[in-house]
Amino acid sequence: MSHEVVEKNIGLMMILIVIVISFGGLVEIVPLFFIKDTTEPVAGVKPYSALRLEGRDIFIREGCSNCHSQMIRPFRAETERYGHYSVAGESVYDHPFLWGSKRTGPDLARVGGRYSDDWHRVHLTNPRDVVPESNMPSYPWLSENKVDGTLTAKKMSVMNTLISATCNKCETYSEAEIASAENDVKDKTELDALVAYLQELGTAIKARR
Ligand code: HEC
Repeated sequence: MSHEVVEKNIGLMMILIVIVISFGGLVEIVPLFFIKDTTEPVAGVKPYSALRLEGRDIFIREGCSNCHSQMIRPFRAETERYGHYSVAGESVYDHPFLWGSKRTGPDLARVGGRYSDDWHRVHLTNPRDVVPESNMPSYPWLSENKVDGTLTAKKMSVMNTLISATCNKCETYSEAEIASAENDVKDKTELDALVAYLQELGTAIKARR
């Protein structure tokens, strides 16, 4: 019987093992060659505006991801609480993605529009003013610091490179958008930028509340 032949011939078995493992590897690797063509943005998902891009960088700088995920899993308990589960086409402009894995605070994937701008301003400056039992840190400096716009245009060009390298069907920033970037964030505070970023999170797919 053929199985017996393989089991008693270690050379043949090694060759067959290598074939099986290579096939398994190819199944994982080959799709990556086509990812540029197959990645599709969800309708309504656009590249981050200059101000939101800066807000996103402040989100990264302040380590918000250490306590907040941006990934709603497709389980009833999650969708009841946060809205529609996250889909891949929502993250096409996220370089790096901020899905996260730690939830000391709630998931923020669909927090956009859940609260008013004013609520966010008070909450970020001192969370306990609106949620007395909150253990989220205060970020009082955000309203005092102005956004540094000197690198905004450069960041957008880099984003263009990353977007073009990963997604054929995605939009890139136009020359005009890049040219006006520094002006678009001029005189804005870091709080303005962060709130603008938060208010659009997950809004392309309507959250179920
Ligand atoms: C030490 C953990 C921790 C860090 C760091 C943290 N948060 Fe929070 N966050 C929480 C907790 C806990 C809550 C729930 C209580 C509350 O609403 O304040 C929360 C709530 C929120 C909410 C309200 C979410 C909702 O659906 O009600 C937003 C928005 C938010 N955080 C944004 C941020 C941003 C932006 C940063 C970074 C500047 C940040 N958080 C940093 C712990 C954290």
